[in-house]
Amino acid sequence: MPFTSIDDRYCKELPHQPALNGLSYKCLIPNVIKVKIGVLTGGGDCPGLNNAIRAVTRSAIERDWTVIGIRNGWAGVLAQETSTLTIENTDRFFDVGGTLLGSSRTNPTRTREDYAKATSIFGDIGLDGLIAIGGDDTLSVAGALAGDGFPIVGVPKTIDNDVPETDACIGYDTAAETISISIERLRTTSMSHHRITVVETMGRQAGWLAAAGGIAGGSDFIAVPEVKTSLDDFVQHVRSRYEAGQSYSIIVVAEGATIDGLNLESAEVQEGDEFGHVILSTRSVGETLARTLENETGYEARASVLGHLQRGGSPTTFDRVLGTRLGLAAVDFLDGKTHGQMTALHGSLVEPVPLTLIAGKTRALHPSYFELLRLFK
Ligand code: F6P
Repeated sequence: MPFTSIDDRYCKELPHQPALNGLSYKCLIPNVIKVKIGVLTGGGDCPGLNNAIRAVTRSAIERDWTVIGIRNGWAGVLAQETSTLTIENTDRFFDVGGTLLGSSRTNPTRTREDYAKATSIFGDIGLDGLIAIGGDDTLSVAGALAGDGFPIVGVPKTIDNDVPETDACIGYDTAAETISISIERLRTTSMSHHRITVVETMGRQAGWLAAAGGIAGGSDFIAVPEVKTSLDDFVQHVRSRYEAGQSYSIIVVAEGATIDGLNLESAEVQEGDEFGHVILSTRSVGETLARTLENETGYEARASVLGHLQRGGSPTTFDRVLGTRLGLAAVDFLDGKTHGQMTALHGSLVEPVPLTLIAGKTRALHPSYFELLRLFK
């Protein structure tokens, strides 16, 4: 069912209203029907989402629009689980991580029935527009709906920072900060015990988190999915470091990194989630690397898997401001009928990028980082 625009609704719902002198119904009966928009958060939660939700709400209410919060991502679209957002029930969350709307990894494009159910939310709830805040999975669903003519705007978030066409995603800065602080803490215990500490970070396909957290935290080796490494590289690195008089080592490895020669025995073949992703932490790359390095070098080693700690905490200033700016821009885009677009950060500007450019793609760590990784080894 193609979307009925707000102007169509004026005509349809108030057919008795005559159009005078060529003036539109909208001009004749302003605010008779309020514009109603929905907002949802999908995929892995992260700090900064509440800032985006809060900005969407405030900016829409300023336009005298109604804002419907959809619970738990696309799951809430299918179940039509909603509540009305107000300045009062969103304002307080500016310094709180997670998402006040809840999230899920539900994929409504898996079956025709679910997809039809998802599209029916527009008619059933009378949504004039939807803002989908999410990573590549959530945004690819938004892209599919936009392709079918539904008025959607996407907002990029993921601690992995791997959504294409934007310089940054909501949540990345806070997670990188968490990694950097964690490394600082791990350093004192590594030094005290003269150990190798392998820090495993999130980062399914891209090394942004490992690179930023590792560089800021002063680690001495960073392994990312984009750069090939071998077990030998790590062994040589640790040996030369200890031989040069350092009695500890902090190695950062992204959960998705591949290390030639490292036997990931504990990796299980698992069924993926609804978007086909497996839980990469079960590869145990950090733990396996620590055990192997201890055996190969004779130096004691421990692994520290930071896991979901990276997704928590109060958002940094950067993420609070980014979430607020992207939320605000999303409402501006809907208002200007700039549909089917994502709010992308380009330098200091927020600009529209078609959702069609996002689906199924990943933004790899920029090669300019490779030199940093090499230098700080
Ligand atoms: O949202 C991205 C991410 O944090 C990845 O880095 C990680 O692999 C995955 O989510 C973990 O997802 P879940 O919360 O489903 O375990």
